[in-house]
Amino acid sequence: MHAGNCCQTLPPVIITIDGPAGTGKSSVAQLLAQRLSLDYLDTGAMYRAVAVIALDQEIEPTNGSALAEAVQKIDLNFDWTRKPPALMLGERDVSRRIRDMDVSAIVSPVAAQSEVRKVLVMLQRRIARQHPRLISEGRDQGSAVFPDAPLRFYLDSDVTIRAQRRMRQLSAQGKTVDESEVLADIKNRDHIDSTRADDPLTCPDGAIVINTDDHSKLEVVDMLEAIVREKILNVDQTA
Ligand code: DC
Repeated sequence: MHAGNCCQTLPPVIITIDGPAGTGKSSVAQLLAQRLSLDYLDTGAMYRAVAVIALDQEIEPTNGSALAEAVQKIDLNFDWTRKPPALMLGERDVSRRIRDMDVSAIVSPVAAQSEVRKVLVMLQRRIARQHPRLISEGRDQGSAVFPDAPLRFYLDSDVTIRAQRRMRQLSAQGKTVDESEVLADIKNRDHIDSTRADDPLTCPDGAIVINTDDHSKLEVVDMLEAIVREKILNVDQTA
């Protein structure tokens, strides 16, 4: 047995980061998790994995019950030994596949299916029990999945700036796309995400809103880190 404080279990900390597509929240959440030694959960990736299942098994993106059944059969999980964690469908690593255009094209209707959301919310809460020091990022994490999280952030940004960021990302990947198409796609996703019946994208009550228009990713991470250290981790001298 060890004596003293060296082996005390660290207290649970759940921090949520929500917001629309293109605010940079995935990279911000990932960097923040690294700096604070917290685990990082990308819930958008989980919805994307269900879209991969729809494509693989030729299930209609709007067939919620068939998709929910398929997810439960296939074991959607993360390999936490990798940083960031790899997204697995059974033994298959789909971390790259989920970023393909055909997946992006159908993920919003997939994510609008109540049966799919029920299964994924259950999985997200299970992951949080297994990884209680967690930054969970998505659209509904602070509003619906972890409404009692001690710190909930909402990142926002003007739609044209989000489209420009997406254009830069796509051209860095060697993909050529039309700016008006990217803008229309983001507007369409915003619309589907914020008008669906279950857990629509919304700014959670009491969330800290950060507008990222005039800030670099690193500036946003700095802001969030300062807030987390001031509000939570100052009493938890470990991070
Ligand atoms: O953040 P992203 O682009 O990887 O998200 C993919 C899709 O999943 C997008 O349509 C929004 C949806 N989503 C959701 O409905 N709820 C979440 N918690 C995370 C993502």
